Amino acid sequence: GVIDAKNLRVKGELVLLGDSGVGKSCIVLRFVRGQFDPTSKVTVGASFLSQTVALQDSTTVKFEIWDTAGQERYAALAPLYYRGAAVAVVVYDITSPESFSKAQYWVKELQKHGSPDIVMALVGNKADLQEKREVPVQDGIDYAEKNGMFFIETSAKTADNINQLFEVGLEKLN
Ligand code: GTP
Ligand code: MG
Repeated sequence: GVIDAKNLRVKGELVLLGDSGVGKSCIVLRFVRGQFDPTSKVTVGASFLSQTVALQDSTTVKFEIWDTAGQERYAALAPLYYRGAAVAVVVYDITSPESFSKAQYWVKELQKHGSPDIVMALVGNKADLQEKREVPVQDGIDYAEKNGMFFIETSAKTADNINQLFEVGLEKLN
């Protein structure tokens, strides 16, 4: 929900979904701490982080972020995290067609069971691995457009487009 307390606005929760290993935790770590962990461990269950961002109009927005576990054994937990979410970020790895299929599964799941006014973003991560790319940019663009989603390719490793991803999440909520 939206809380207006002086200049602080809490704009609801953001949830990250996607196959294990696509880089969800690394995206969050990059956004929240400006770091990259090449030895990132698989997430167990889910992890919660928050990040406060100062906007140019001198208001401050607090992101509440649920970083879910992509391993199959945790799939049944996902509704706990996406049900109340205002923004869903569905992530795949541009070097993995399987992860792109899994992203499509999550989009359908959100369309069926997510909040009707949920804002969805499709994210192709590991964009630094161009020489290993197996999912063409155009496939991501087309799928996102067909499903009314925002699309962006990111790299948690180089920080490419990470802030842009969260900024768009903000804009769509305003
Ligand atoms: P689960 O927690 O199991 O769902 O996985 P996850 O999606 O959170 O993946 P995680 O962020 O732990 O990253 C998995 C692996 O990919 C790690 O070895 C990361 O270092 C690597 N990785 C993440 N993002 C990038 C990226 O943008 N580029 C490259 N080259 N590697 C990345
Ligand atoms: Mg993780």
